Amino acid sequence: MTIVLLGYMASGKSSISKLLGKELELPVLDLDTYIERKEGKTIPEIFESKGEIYFRMKEHTYLKEILETKEAIILSLGGGTPCYANNMNLIHEYTKATFYLQTSIPEIIDRVKNEKDKRPLISKIADEDLPEFVGKHLFERNTFYQQATYSIFTDKKSVEALVKEIKENLN
Ligand code: S3P
Repeated sequence: MTIVLLGYMASGKSSISKLLGKELELPVLDLDTYIERKEGKTIPEIFESKGEIYFRMKEHTYLKEILETKEAIILSLGGGTPCYANNMNLIHEYTKATFYLQTSIPEIIDRVKNEKDKRPLISKIADEDLPEFVGKHLFERNTFYQQATYSIFTDKKSVEALVKEIKENLN
């Protein structure tokens, strides 16, 4: 069965998917990494040279390509993937095992503050404006994230504890 992890930037999708894949003995795929490999550019480079609309189109195309292989994997999405191109409906045609990793605004800000340059959507936002930006952004994205079958709160929990929680929901 394919398991899909989604959530805002820095919600822990990549690290949780790695451990989950190890424990369930399933291959792990990170959609951003897949896009970077296919396009031969980093995500910030794609945003910079081609713009966000191009990125969203490619994100949808590659998501479809991955799902169509029908191989059982752990798939970690980009933070915005659920919110564009009807991607949640597409995912649910292939699997219902979708997990929203729900992280609070203060925790997100704490985590993204020091790695803004890796994240083109927030790279130009001043630190003092981050709470308002992330708050509004999460509010807009919430309806998409809530379409996931399961919501898991991540604040103050270890990767190990979160993997355990995901596995319990799968049983
Ligand atoms: C984005 C999140 C990023 C990446 C791109 C856009 C978003 O992924 O896909 O920069 O729209 O939230 P991470 O959530 O892995 O940082």
